[in-house]
Amino acid sequence: EMKTLGGLSPEERRAAGQRLNELKNYVEAEIEKLQSGFAAKREAEQLGKERIDVTLPGRRIRPGHLHPITLLRQKIEDIFVSMGYEIEDGPEIENDFYNFDALNIPASHPARSPQDTFYISERLALRSQTSTMQIHAMQKRRPPLRVAAPGRVFRRDTPDATHNPMFYQVEGLLIDRGVTLGDLKGTVEEFVRLLFGPETRTRFRPSYFPFVEPGAEIDYTCFKCGGGGCRVCKGSGWIEMGGSGMVHPNVLRAVGIDPEEFTGFAFGLGLDRLCALMYG
Ligand code: PHE
Repeated sequence: EMKTLGGLSPEERRAAGQRLNELKNYVEAEIEKLQSGFAAKREAEQLGKERIDVTLPGRRIRPGHLHPITLLRQKIEDIFVSMGYEIEDGPEIENDFYNFDALNIPASHPARSPQDTFYISERLALRSQTSTMQIHAMQKRRPPLRVAAPGRVFRRDTPDATHNPMFYQVEGLLIDRGVTLGDLKGTVEEFVRLLFGPETRTRFRPSYFPFVEPGAEIDYTCFKCGGGGCRVCKGSGWIEMGGSGMVHPNVLRAVGIDPEEFTGFAFGLGLDRLCALMYG
């Protein structure tokens, strides 16, 4: 119509102009309507998204839990207590007597070297095993006795995924009249059954620790696969638990106990690797 406007009479032109204006107003009004419709919709969406339902329950604050090593330590302590052992705590800094001499560790033993042990003075060092607690327990309680001693131990080591200069051990010690290797095996068997389940089996491999004779390393059947072989036990079906043995007569003598009257056994296990395996 715009194009043909020139050929129209004045009246027709006015009428056409009016129609055009009406059309323009109509289109503008429609656009306005659409725009305010969009704005209202957007606002409604926004309000919907930001709505707060004050009747909803609050977000629960999740309580923390004890460190896995603490959980495992407590579990092991419970087992020892159920078998009549008392739990003992002891020093982390020891002199040569507790660290070495009383444990029948010869002067030439590599554990005495400052390359392996953290010395804080000529004669004081951080204990490298909880076996030091055997000496404290026997001095303090005198036999017959049953003591379990969990605690931190320290060895000079470069930390990586499986090594740490500080880690946890638990020591079990029993001294009485007429204690035999059979008592050690029976105790360890019961211990792993209580810890991992009644189907768990143990295996003793002859080994050497200066403070026991005879000495053995203890393996138990993998708690994951039951002995068939899996990733946890690296396919062997067995997991190493720690060392054990009959307390050496020299150790008993070092604390004034007559090895002809009393015998006993000790075993020790590390908590950290076990904990990593158990809790993945
Ligand atoms: N203390 C030994 C270790 O750290 C383990 C052990 C404990 C061996 C008791 C014999 C008896 O390897």
